[in-house]
Amino acid sequence: MPLAPTIALRNGAAIPQIGFGTWPMDDREVEAAFGQALEIGYRHVDTAYNYRNERGVGAAIKSSGIAREEIWVTTKFNAEWHDKVDEAWEMAVDKLGVDYIDMFMVHWPNPRSGRYVQAVEGLKGLLDDGRIKAIGVSNFKPEHLDRVIAEAGVTPDVNQIELDPSVSRAGPRAYHSEHGIVTESWSPLGAGSDLLDNEVLKGIAETHGRTPAQVVLRWHMKLGLVAIPKSSNPERMRQNIDIFDFQLGEAETGELSALDRGESAATDSDRFGH
Ligand code: A2P
Repeated sequence: MPLAPTIALRNGAAIPQIGFGTWPMDDREVEAAFGQALEIGYRHVDTAYNYRNERGVGAAIKSSGIAREEIWVTTKFNAEWHDKVDEAWEMAVDKLGVDYIDMFMVHWPNPRSGRYVQAVEGLKGLLDDGRIKAIGVSNFKPEHLDRVIAEAGVTPDVNQIELDPSVSRAGPRAYHSEHGIVTESWSPLGAGSDLLDNEVLKGIAETHGRTPAQVVLRWHMKLGLVAIPKSSNPERMRQNIDIFDFQLGEAETGELSALDRGESAATDSDRFGH
């Protein structure tokens, strides 16, 4: 199985375009599942303090025997540590059993606690001394990014947001492109929705002899996004990374983009966040 291609981030690091999503697996489940994913060819994992499964992710990395630097590890910290990012990093590397983190993310901006600019400043310190390779934020709106760029003088490498063809977030994507920020899609398969049953999507999948999930992930790739599908099933894990030997045409891409319901994300990060 070929590995996923990488995308260059603004600071030069290279992130594999498909990663392994781990929410809502617990330590035991993720250790087995990510272990299988590594065998299949995944080299990128997405976890978080809030998922309570960083130990399981770390155990899978360790027992895989794959060199640490071949695996891209993203984890996230929550609002409790926005002004204590060094402590958050210590906790994360301890649980993961690693000595650096590829990308550390502010999980939610939590604008009501008012410290997300400080959190990104903390990440800049970690980047400067090599404890992380990239600065990530998640669920940030353009106005949150505006503040970070103006007040911290730091442009994040990546913003991870909810994104799939039915919630395609054209506004945030355009903002990110303008600022050289890579967009990463969480719930790229539209978890919990009826996206994969859509008839237009099923028709395109049939044309290519692929599954609807593979076509959706190919759409993310075509738009230049990073996607982190979660699966606990080895057959579906395999499908989700076996998407680099077919292409979607312009018309098909357009038909998928037209599935956008024009809704904003399910979770409003001005109100919700850990
Ligand atoms: P499972 O873990 O049983 O495979 P998302 O990444 O958008 O959050 O979606 C995750 C959900 O989609 C999970 O319920 C997962 O179930 C399911 N899923 C993952 N990969 C596929 C696939 N290739 N086809 C259908 N469903 C999938």
